[in-house]
Amino acid sequence: MAGQIPTQFIDDLLTRVDIVDVIDARVPLKKAGKNLHACCPFHNEKTPSFTVSPDKQFYHCFGCGAHGTAIGFLMEYDQMSFPEAIQELADQVGMSVPTTKSLSPAPATQNLYDLLDKVSQYYVHQLQTHPQREVFVDYLKQRGLSAATIEKFDIGMAPDGWDNVLRTFGTTDLARKQLNEAGLLSSNDKGRTYDRFRNRIMFPIRDRRGRVIGFGGRVLDDGTPKYLNSPETAVFHKGHELYGLFQARKANRKLERIVIVEGYMDVIALAEHGVTNAVATLGTATTPDHLRLVLRSTPEVVFCFDGDRAGREAAWRAAENALPLLGGNHQLKFMFLAEGEDPDSLVREQGAAAFNTLVEQAKNYSDFFFDTLESQVDIASMDGRARLVEIAKPYLRHVPAGVYRDMLEQRLAEKAQTNVALLNKHLDRPITVEHKTKQKAGSISTATSPVRMAITILLQHPVLYTAVGEFDKIATLDRPGIKILSTMLETLQLNPHLNTAALLERSRGSEHSEHLQRLVQESLPLTAEQLKPELVGIVQQLQQQATEQRKAYLEQKHPSQLTDEEKEEIRNN
Ligand code: CTP
Ligand code: MN
Repeated sequence: MAGQIPTQFIDDLLTRVDIVDVIDARVPLKKAGKNLHACCPFHNEKTPSFTVSPDKQFYHCFGCGAHGTAIGFLMEYDQMSFPEAIQELADQVGMSVPTTKSLSPAPATQNLYDLLDKVSQYYVHQLQTHPQREVFVDYLKQRGLSAATIEKFDIGMAPDGWDNVLRTFGTTDLARKQLNEAGLLSSNDKGRTYDRFRNRIMFPIRDRRGRVIGFGGRVLDDGTPKYLNSPETAVFHKGHELYGLFQARKANRKLERIVIVEGYMDVIALAEHGVTNAVATLGTATTPDHLRLVLRSTPEVVFCFDGDRAGREAAWRAAENALPLLGGNHQLKFMFLAEGEDPDSLVREQGAAAFNTLVEQAKNYSDFFFDTLESQVDIASMDGRARLVEIAKPYLRHVPAGVYRDMLEQRLAEKAQTNVALLNKHLDRPITVEHKTKQKAGSISTATSPVRMAITILLQHPVLYTAVGEFDKIATLDRPGIKILSTMLETLQLNPHLNTAALLERSRGSEHSEHLQRLVQESLPLTAEQLKPELVGIVQQLQQQATEQRKAYLEQKHPSQLTDEEKEEIRNN
């Protein structure tokens, strides 16, 4: 995406724009030390945890974890696309965006939204007019839904037949291509193309803003699959979206709490009975992205699961995924229904009050966490307690440093009948400089390796680049993160005036992006001046190690195997 707008332009833009002006115009900021703060616009809170750093040109909320550059803020807050955000910022500082043909505000995506919306209206219309509508209407009635609820969720029907949507909307080649991109078609191995959704009750899936981004379709009988969902498309990403969030936000001016349930029909049946704060994942586990999304709308999330084994396992997966989001001003809880019950059946049989009572009795995150781990050991024996520490350790490492983590550690120490100091001896603490750690790809490590430290310093204080000596050899070292560090140094070599935000924007869309966003939030306890020797020293040491490694490699070669260049290299070192 960023490839279409020259990177150089984005760099320049981000040095001219001030993120403080951009945000302050939308969310009034107050001075707080060298940063500014406000109550977070992305989640509900009473005391400010949303911080804007003029130095880093970066915002970060300690409550919900929202973060980004000025570009990212406009994308989140004003729901702009990337090119729209660039355009807006450029207008503000009087720069004109270099136009390449493909740059006009993502017309392809806009077309998909328009198409999905029309198709959704078509399904609704079918439910009102189609000759075979009776059986669909009866089904919805039998599931206890009123006309008002059917309308609120824009429930529709895909009539039986292979090409209803295809014929109605696919009148040109371009239109058929768009139907396909919107996930509305399927094709067989003979290359025949047909409607993906046939003879199903249709549930449009909307994003937080209310745009239709995909569909779930349910069979009327016990055919399979029971639910068919849109595939991943340019606008639909299952792991990021929650069914019913738009309707929940619309029904409640302020959401004190959101309940995450498992199914479409659970959300809808609850709404039918006046419980308007339920949302559902779309047949996947709750991801950290889901949680970030929902925590922008509410301070309290209750996960609702079946009481059976599968439900408990799904709950534990949600608990694991929630670890990086613990602490801050929000609360996470867990509730379990009786085996064989789901929110739909419960609310229909026992009413909203019975459901709400269970919500009120939901278990705190920490209780669920420790109860689950304790059930795996014999807490009465010393060996069991030692084992509890061992199994809890890797989880605690994923919890952001702060009061909540301290309290979890405290609780673990109490349960293990040891003390926090002793326990901490065995937990990897941040800021310990660790050499050569073997990390699993994608794992979150809070232990700071020299490479990670150098990246963090450089990212937060790009001006320090000018103090760094030679680094041309370091990329040959086998260290996690070394590629990121050497690329960043090379980038700064060519563009020494880049600021933190510009460095971050250059990583947009790359696999390192999330990692860098985390490092920029890490709090470095020292000033730039104090960090300078640290950075210089690390790079120097890496360069030296790389040089020695290279020398050892050349020396173990027989002189007759050396190329002229390699001989030259030995002479020079
Ligand atoms: N799901 C899915 N694909 C399936 C089955 C389920 O995507 N083949 C997802 C749907 O989002 C569904 C949720 O998982 O809403 C829960 O599934 P399940 O418990 O099987 O269904 P219910 O929600 O109870 O559906 P219903 O009450 O309509 O039978
Ligand atoms: Mn059900």
